[in-house]
Amino acid sequence: MAGREWNADSYDRVGGPMTAMAAAVTERLTLEGHETVLDAGCGTGRVTELLLDRLPTGRVIAVDADPEMVRLARENVGARAEVFQANLLELELEDPVDAVLSTATFHWVLDHPALFERLRSVLKPGGQLVAQCGGEGNIAGLRAVGDAVARLAEFAPHLDGWEAPWYYAAPGETAERLEAAGFVDIRTWLEPWPVEPDDPAEYLATVTLGAQVQRLPQELVEPYVSAVMERCDGARTIDYVRLNIDARVAGS
Ligand SMILES: C[S@@+](CC[C@H](N)C(=O)[O-])C[C@H]1O[C@@H](n2cnc3c(N)ncnc32)[C@H](O)[C@@H]1O
Repeated sequence: MAGREWNADSYDRVGGPMTAMAAAVTERLTLEGHETVLDAGCGTGRVTELLLDRLPTGRVIAVDADPEMVRLARENVGARAEVFQANLLELELEDPVDAVLSTATFHWVLDHPALFERLRSVLKPGGQLVAQCGGEGNIAGLRAVGDAVARLAEFAPHLDGWEAPWYYAAPGETAERLEAAGFVDIRTWLEPWPVEPDDPAEYLATVTLGAQVQRLPQELVEPYVSAVMERCDGARTIDYVRLNIDARVAGS
C-alpha cells in the first residue's frame, strides 16, 4: 500500500471540496478532445469524470494504488475509462499518453524525483503534466492542533512516534526535480485554498486526519476528531495550501 489506507466510500461522500479544487486544475490542460490522458491517483473517479467531459473522442486511463478507490472509481466511471490498480512509482503503460493529470496525490508519494521520472517515461514527447497536491505550509494550523491532541494521555500510546506519511514540497525544489527528470516549460506555484467542509467531523476523520486516525482503535476515533475540532473552532475552515505544477516533456 502506498502512503496510507483510504475509506473510499467516505471519501466519495465527503470529497466534494477536493473535486472542486481539481476542477480548476483540469481546466489548465490544453486539450482538443481526442487525446489520451492519464489520471494519476484517481481516487473514486470523480476527477476522472471531469476529464472525460473534456475528451469526447479521447481516452482516459485512471490509476490508483488503493484497491477500494479503484473499485469505486470503476463503479463511478463504468466503461468510459480504463481504471486499474498501480503504484505510480512503478507505473508502466502499453503506449505513452498525451497528458498526465494528477490532483491531491503527489504529496502521498515521498520520492518526487522517482515519481517525476516515471511520469515522464509514460508521456509522449511534448506531453503535458498538469498537477496539484498539498504544498509547503499545507494544513499547518490543523496539523499543529492534531499533533497537540496526539500528545494527550488518551491518544499518546497510539500516536507516539507517528510520522506524517506525506511530503508538502515547495515550488523551487519541485521545479528543479522536474527539470532533472526531463521536463521543460515548468511552472510551479503555491495557492492557498481554504475549504469549508459540509461535515467537518467526517471530513477530518477521512481526509485531513485520516492518516492519524487509522492508527487509533475505533473507540478513540470520534474522541480524537472531536478534541481537534474543539481546539480549532470546529474545523470549519481547513487551511489548505496547494502546490500547482504545469510542465511539458521536451520534444514536439
Ligand atoms: C486524496 S486522494 C485524491 C483522489 C482524486 N485525485 C481527487 O482529487 O479527489 C489521493 C489518492 O492518491 C492515491 N495514491 C497515493 N499514493 C499513490 C501511489 N504511489 N500510486 C498511486 N496512487 C496513489 C491514493 O490511493 C488516493 O486515492
